[in-house]
Amino acid sequence: MFKNQSSEALTEEAVKAALSTVIEPELHRDLVSLNMARDIKITGNDVEFTIMLTTPACPLKSTMENDSKAALAKIPGMGNVTVKFGSSVPTDNRISSQVGQQFRNTIAISSGKGGVGKSTISVNLAISLAQEGARVGLLDADILGPNIPMMMGIDQMPPPRNRKMVPAERFGVKFISMAFLVKPDQALIWRGPMLHSAIQQLLTDVEWGELDYLVIDLPPGTGDAQLTLAQVLPLSGAVVITQPMQVAAADALRGLKLFEKLDVPIIGVIENMSGEFFGTGAGEKLATDYDTPYLGTVPLQPQVRIGGDNGEPIVVSHPDSEAAQAIKQVTKEVAARVSVLTIASQDSGGFIPINMVG
Ligand SMILES: Nc1ncnc2c1ncn2[C@@H]1O[C@H](COP(=O)(O)OP(=O)(O)OP(=O)(O)O)[C@@H](O)[C@H]1O
Ligand SMILES: [Mg+2]
Repeated sequence: MFKNQSSEALTEEAVKAALSTVIEPELHRDLVSLNMARDIKITGNDVEFTIMLTTPACPLKSTMENDSKAALAKIPGMGNVTVKFGSSVPTDNRISSQVGQQFRNTIAISSGKGGVGKSTISVNLAISLAQEGARVGLLDADILGPNIPMMMGIDQMPPPRNRKMVPAERFGVKFISMAFLVKPDQALIWRGPMLHSAIQQLLTDVEWGELDYLVIDLPPGTGDAQLTLAQVLPLSGAVVITQPMQVAAADALRGLKLFEKLDVPIIGVIENMSGEFFGTGAGEKLATDYDTPYLGTVPLQPQVRIGGDNGEPIVVSHPDSEAAQAIKQVTKEVAARVSVLTIASQDSGGFIPINMVG
């Protein structure tokens, strides 16, 4: 039988050498040393391999695909290149040791003041992460003014199992809220310690299962709830939402400072409700002034509010709208930044290649 022994035969070593020149844009290291280039298959002159991402919602998939193809094209006689994607979300190890839940990452959605769109962004971001293939939970930590069930279109949770609460589930997102436990017309006047135990219960007495991301919708302000949350749950990071007018940025800045004080990393700033009505620009300016990432701009669009009121969030009801597209892009920026923060927190104890945390 004829065997091609030519010195030009494509080897895995040659492929790896080429891919070791491709830099992961967020982690600033090459695909091979990060162990992100996996399952290399060579058939004749064709190559197929998988890029193992740190989040299924990676904003840089196409950059890495194109860079890989360009690097491989430099090998003489290279045939077709097929790039596949997989993901293994890094784990913030502090979480499971403190709360006994299998959450890989926790993302707090906050703002200095009320009504800027925390709950709206939380819901749509959680759904977008799930749409990308992540396992997602959503905790309504607004104990006194819970809005998540209405926005998700479900007003009760399933019966408990093994003495634990079972989260409601829709659009691929598991969620829990104090609204499931109190009547809508019941006024809650709670003080610090009760708030503390309520948030604690929604975290620990719930059968969440394994999650890549727990998204936490916070109440407005910089008070008890924020403090409690940071005490009971290690936060991978906090997103700060601001409205577009400059007067709003002062409130958002207070939110940033609070999390800094609590040693919670800032994921970045989102500007919501941008457009003719409220203007634009405060978010980006705040991010620049505070030297923190700007995650993106979500426009003011009536369908966003309608989606919230009807329990059909905009990324589901109008996925092609400008606002939904903006939220999907913001979601990817958040996911990428969380990967960087979580890997950096692991880094303090020596770099952990992503295959070891999968
Ligand atoms: N981009 C947007 N375009 C149009 N309406 C929006 C947008 N974002 C949020 N809204 C609407 O603004 C209102 C306030 O939003 P939301 O409840 O999410 O804010 P919040 O910050 O969670 O408020 P609170 O501080 O009371 O918890 C809601 O009716 C919501 O549907
Ligand atoms: Mg809210």
